[in-house]
Amino acid sequence: MPKLNENYLNLKESYLFSEISHRVNSYISTNPDKRVIRLGIGDVTLPIGPAVISQLHEGVNALANAETFKGYGPEQGYAFLREAIVDYYKQNNVIIDADEVFVSDGAKSDTGNITDLFDKDNVILIPDPVYPVYVDTNIMNGRNITYIDANIQNNFLPMPDHSVHADIIYICSPNNPTGAAYNKEQLKEWVDYALENNAVILYDSAYECFITDETLPRSIFAIDGAKKCAIEFCSLSKTAGFTGTRCGYTIVPKDLTFTASNTAQMSLNAMWNRRQTTKFNGVSYIVQKGAAAVFSVEGMAQCKKNIQYYQENARIIAEGLAQKNIRYFGGVNSPYIWFECPNNMDSWDFFDYLLCHAQIVGTPGAGFGKNGQKFFRLTSFGNRENTIEAMERINKLF
Ligand SMILES: Cc1ncc(COP(=O)(O)O)c(C=O)c1O
Repeated sequence: MPKLNENYLNLKESYLFSEISHRVNSYISTNPDKRVIRLGIGDVTLPIGPAVISQLHEGVNALANAETFKGYGPEQGYAFLREAIVDYYKQNNVIIDADEVFVSDGAKSDTGNITDLFDKDNVILIPDPVYPVYVDTNIMNGRNITYIDANIQNNFLPMPDHSVHADIIYICSPNNPTGAAYNKEQLKEWVDYALENNAVILYDSAYECFITDETLPRSIFAIDGAKKCAIEFCSLSKTAGFTGTRCGYTIVPKDLTFTASNTAQMSLNAMWNRRQTTKFNGVSYIVQKGAAAVFSVEGMAQCKKNIQYYQENARIIAEGLAQKNIRYFGGVNSPYIWFECPNNMDSWDFFDYLLCHAQIVGTPGAGFGKNGQKFFRLTSFGNRENTIEAMERINKLF
């Protein structure tokens, strides 16, 4: 009999979205005449822009001819895409090298797979609430986690406790689910803390394209010293509607080296390269052709138009909550609006209340960590008509 990875026994049952769909389906079956509006899931709804679509077609056409056919590509991604990403960073005054960029099938895989590079014994800081993948992938590897509280007192932006040592620090900014985004001074404090502790920051910038405040950093590498202590994960899922198409990238600086127990210098860039070339065979040529078009002038303009559509939805949701004096966070530099459940309700009770009385589906904050117990997440990824109607229903409800 194989000995199993019994760390899986320590995972909480992944009941969040299945429990949501179970409750929604049972409501619909008993109330077939009611129109349910879904503002729960973090998936985009607008189609991919024509500049990207046309390059996806080009990618397909290339495979139809012997002269242009592509088989296995470089595991790290084609140079044309890695260079397009380098140029994108340059526009935000961040200089990285193409061989620090690793193209992948998305930030979920990379934020999970990065755990391969680290020993089991590390002090790992993970904010609560946050995107659950960081927690679950570490539990799968048998690691202990130290949670850092994100709450109203710290505006959902926890800062380092210099009296506590850490080896690995997860930061998600703008944050899923709270929508909170760190400014440069706050991120600098995290970078300084990581350097003091000889730690590494795993920085998830999947929602950087939603940042409208130009003073906020869109990359941790906009902060001095970050190349010595941080890895950045990003994704085209929300930037360009690639949730189904699948493409993301991870930046692992070459300066990121640590001393092994035998005093050898270990480079995380070299280790990630080794990991990827061993366990991953790259993203399809077709998808990378499309991804490169995201960074073209035309492609980016089309992506921004879609993002602005969602941002306007976020504004409508935030305005509706403000009118009812419901305290909310996010919604400005983020597609997510995170708010306190009215009347001190528990997030699952509020879920049921909103579904039964207003036929709106959101996401209970408890699904993102214990600090989400009394909070609720709505997303701006729905269509305009539904977003407006949802806020009209909330207006009548409270
Ligand atoms: C914070 C965060 N990181 C990563 C992802 C996943 O990104 P991808 O679609 O590139 O796997 C999500 C998806 O919702 C997310 O919220």
